[in-house]
Amino acid sequence: MSRSAHPAGPRHADVLPEGHYFAPPADLNALDPKVWAHTVGRNADGVVAVGGIDVKALAEQFGTPAYFIDEADFRARARAWRTAFGPGADVFYAGKAFLSRAVVRWLYEEGLNLDVCSGGELATALSGGMPADRIAFHGNNKSTEEITRAIESGVGRIVLDSFQEIVRVAHIASSLRRRQRVQIRVTVGVEAHTHEFIATAHEDQKFGIPLADGQAAEAVRRALQLEGLEVIGIHSHIGSQIFDMSGFEVAAHRVVGLLKDIRDEHGIELPEIDLGGGLGIAYTSDDDPREPHEIAKALTEIVSRECEAARLRTPRISVEPGRAIVGPTAFTLYEVGTIKPLDGLRTYVSVDGGMSDNIRTALYDADYSVALVSRTSDAEPMLVRVVGKHCESGDIVVRDAFLPADLAPGDLLAVPATGAYCRSMASNYNHVLRPPVVAVNDGEARVIVRRETQEDLLRLDVG
Ligand code: LLP
Repeated sequence: MSRSAHPAGPRHADVLPEGHYFAPPADLNALDPKVWAHTVGRNADGVVAVGGIDVKALAEQFGTPAYFIDEADFRARARAWRTAFGPGADVFYAGKAFLSRAVVRWLYEEGLNLDVCSGGELATALSGGMPADRIAFHGNNKSTEEITRAIESGVGRIVLDSFQEIVRVAHIASSLRRRQRVQIRVTVGVEAHTHEFIATAHEDQKFGIPLADGQAAEAVRRALQLEGLEVIGIHSHIGSQIFDMSGFEVAAHRVVGLLKDIRDEHGIELPEIDLGGGLGIAYTSDDDPREPHEIAKALTEIVSRECEAARLRTPRISVEPGRAIVGPTAFTLYEVGTIKPLDGLRTYVSVDGGMSDNIRTALYDADYSVALVSRTSDAEPMLVRVVGKHCESGDIVVRDAFLPADLAPGDLLAVPATGAYCRSMASNYNHVLRPPVVAVNDGEARVIVRRETQEDLLRLDVG
């Protein structure tokens, strides 16, 4: 999809995406369990609750906007991935989706490992108590300091992303008198069916070493000669928000092909392959994501089949889901401010956050759902665009939605499925303060990342 600038801003208000679902839902008060966290539902008085606490009480205690994460749901999804893959495989949660020390502890307790891709994520992982040997360190441009810190702390693997990095990591490991376990990230030439900016395995992009023209084979050849490195496997990540398993099948086929070439050339069977993350979630009722057990079955079957055909021992598989674990477990709670009906077009509903707490709509044209959660309503549906408070017309939270026509300032709206890539991509644009993340579980709510304050902003501004 092209990202050429639209002359009048991102979209004219009267242009709806092709194939847009115009009809309002049968019941505006219904909450589709596909897009809401497990414990979310309406109380007898019509107010939505999560983890046994209603949103009016949550808004009063923690303010808006705020992200509320259903801890029981997070743990259940993490466990479902762990159970689906079983003891013969490893699940590395991708911390970029959302990371905090509480989340690190939940992951540790549920038996997951952790993928980090910067010094900051590594520091959070270690500080949250994740044992270093359960951490994988990623990135296409790791600094010398990051590599040194990762090796010194004893991370279980570093995923090498370029020819230069092979030498750099080997050199740093040797100078620390360590032998670092590494995987080599390859690009398998698959075009994943997703937005251009988040597809990562076609060849013309910055990640990994292409399989094409024997480049990945050459990378393995070089890495095997360096005594600072212990090459444990091959890594592939084909993209994000993917529903179709065929891209993973092609990737697995090509990665096993490389393992076979390595065996034939070097007489070594590498013991591990990592097939990355990228499994899609439901942002709206139209999305139909796959369950972890289906994904685990499909991936393990294809790898075993390919290995059998190549007469290889089946390697240990690992995967790196981020969005599929945390995405559905949280919603963002906003308070309605200005409501502006534009005759013949739609009604603009402004909320007290916006592109600073959810950049995904502006950046990827992402679709979201939205519901009135502080009460029910029998009013007629009205076509709305939920927008933020930023000085930018592209500041859209939900591009097209229906809300009850009696919506009023002070009502609370919630946008579900904001657990992944919302707080982690939040900004201070317009010096708006980043919202807190509150974990709710069994009648208790607890701040796990506090709201930013104006003092926080001014602390960085040294005058
Ligand atoms: N492993 C690697 C090497 C990755 O690069 C990523 C995501 C993942 C795992 C996790 O992917 P997931 O399961 O969460 O899709 N900001 C974008 C997504 C960028 C994903 C980057 N890498 C978005 O908001 O959609």
